[in-house]
Amino acid sequence: PPNLQKMVEDLGLERVNCRAKGASSGFKVAILGAAGGIGQPLAMLMKMNPLVSLLHLYDVVNAHGVTADISHMDTSAVVRGFLGQQQLEDALIGMDLVIIPAGVPRKPGMTRDDLFNINAGIVKTLCEAIAKCCPKAIVNIISNPVNSTVPIAAEVFKKAGVFDPKRVLGVTMLDVVRANTFVAEIMGLDPREVDVPVVGGHAGVTILPLLSQVKPSCSFTQKEIDYLTDRIQNGGTEVVEAKAGAGSATLSMAYAAVKFADACLQALRGDAAVVHCAYVASEVTELPFFASKVRLGRNGVEEIYPLGPLNEYERAGLEKAKKELAGSIQKGVSFVKK
Ligand code: NAD
Ligand code: LMR
Repeated sequence: PPNLQKMVEDLGLERVNCRAKGASSGFKVAILGAAGGIGQPLAMLMKMNPLVSLLHLYDVVNAHGVTADISHMDTSAVVRGFLGQQQLEDALIGMDLVIIPAGVPRKPGMTRDDLFNINAGIVKTLCEAIAKCCPKAIVNIISNPVNSTVPIAAEVFKKAGVFDPKRVLGVTMLDVVRANTFVAEIMGLDPREVDVPVVGGHAGVTILPLLSQVKPSCSFTQKEIDYLTDRIQNGGTEVVEAKAGAGSATLSMAYAAVKFADACLQALRGDAAVVHCAYVASEVTELPFFASKVRLGRNGVEEIYPLGPLNEYERAGLEKAKKELAGSIQKGVSFVKK
């Protein structure tokens, strides 16, 4: 809490003071947009993560309220709140991992690209501060449109002379989480045992599930493929419509964000074979950014895997995805260059 330091000094509680400094080993994680629909459950779940020693919660509203609340959880991470632009740099100094769910969500009838005008500027400002305060941090970008906000982040880091393509990752884990769930539903499997690679990007037709590569190996009818592809590509819209103006996916997204952030922390710790889909600077296609399976390590993205054999349906989907992605990437790059 913001007044913990003062309270500690007033009471002369030296041991509390040590804890408040976050002296224990573990990783330092900042969440930017921590008071939002995703930010709050994400903050709660990261406070429960034993790999996290220090959790910085930054927002332009209610950061201290969320921090006071979460700081009472009896888990080991020390939590600190940072409110408003003037505290952004303090929130970022020394961070190993920065997760960005800041920005406005969709309402029914909107595309993710309709969020560009507001969210592009938010992500740009936040990344300028990251470039200055913790340029070596791994950055997980959740704010939409991810297909453009990741190129925006990359351009900001390039401008600042600190771009490391291994460290900037667009979070597409929710597409994988949904795909695993929907495939498990129709095949009568436990979703925890299902692994569906989802490549491309994170909007409509750019979300390309590779159902021919599902593990455990499944054989789908064409009807099932059409149903699954449509449901996975429009999972976000399904939630936006169900929430009827009250926002987009927050709880499943916080779950997916934590799954991905935890993988990044395991990789930073040195764990082997940490492989997940993410939207990153890539040479897998002719586009400069693409989501595919990547191996995470101590430096972020250590290896990007090729797409593997695609069937005709997936090859057609890939062409559609690339066409839309190219425009979204260009839009992000131009926003920073202009
Ligand atoms: P929300 O409106 O509930 O929360 C957003 C938070 O960002 C708010 O607390 C707001 O105060 C904060 N914010 C706004 N400007 C800020 C700034 N300059 N600095 C720091 N914080 C700022 O929205 P939400 O439901 O949490 O969604 C957030 C974003 O995540 C949206 O853009 C949404 O489209 C996106 N999203 C992405 C995925 C994905 O799979 N990548 C999934 C769901 C939502
Ligand atoms: C999602 O996939 O749920 C998010 O990208 C939010 C949205 O706008 O659909």
